[in-house]
Amino acid sequence: MAATSCVLMDRGNNTTCTINLHGATVVSWRVNNQEQLFVSKEAVFDGKKAIRGGIPFVFPQFGEWVSGPQHGFARIIRWNVEKAPERMPSGDIEAVFSLYDSPSTRNMWNYQFRVTYKLVLKEKELHFNVNVHNINKEVSFYFTILLHTYLKVPDVRRCQITGLSGCTFVDKTRDSTIYQENRETVVLTERTDRIYRNTSQEHIVTNVVSGRKMRIQKYNFPDTVVWNPWAEKAKELGDLGPEEWPNMLCVEVGRVTQPIMLPPGTAFEACQSLHVM
Ligand code: BG6
Repeated sequence: MAATSCVLMDRGNNTTCTINLHGATVVSWRVNNQEQLFVSKEAVFDGKKAIRGGIPFVFPQFGEWVSGPQHGFARIIRWNVEKAPERMPSGDIEAVFSLYDSPSTRNMWNYQFRVTYKLVLKEKELHFNVNVHNINKEVSFYFTILLHTYLKVPDVRRCQITGLSGCTFVDKTRDSTIYQENRETVVLTERTDRIYRNTSQEHIVTNVVSGRKMRIQKYNFPDTVVWNPWAEKAKELGDLGPEEWPNMLCVEVGRVTQPIMLPPGTAFEACQSLHVM
């Protein structure tokens, strides 16, 4: 069994964030001792499988992939600690994680890259800054990327999501038809797996833990995936308990409908922030 290990960011006041280096998966974010992220009781921590919950890092491919595992390899390999957690003059805690190409990544995807992932833990916010560098001097590459955030919620059927109105989307539970969202706020009433395009820079999700709201802000992540497997599909996932699906809501920001082309020697940057309101 491969070793996994976690890095703790502690801001004081029972406000912490824990990153499992397996996939640089954020597996816990507590604000005043209140957990904000869902992690399944059945999640597998074997250093091989993706962790079912928290915030897995999807790269270089969202969804099915002919060259490697679904959602790419970044969520199932060990990342490095580039900069250990450090307190800033503001009191915020910063840490940086990194992933470089290796013989095993090049076996699936033969490109040279460096990804850096900076997390900043604030009083009621968690900020994510993602940089993908093409470190080769001659070859371009294409990729997709997404932060697969599992919010912890008392009942997914009672959450409303803003910032999707007017956007086109593909419903992965159906076919490849492009639909348009005409609801001001989206409420889930059945199995949902939708890729919304060109969404607002901000989503508000209501009725997260303690009936509060979560604000999600993003930069350079044009798409938002909304996912919950509901009862039937949850049973098919070996690492999600049959009763757990009402307690999770995935609102995943990323760049997935249009792969990014990164020329040699250049970098892509994108950010997300989560804010308990
Ligand atoms: C979502 C996809 O992002 O992730 C879904 O849109 C997928 O289609 C879900 O089922 C979970 O994927 P996985 O590989 O973690 O089971």
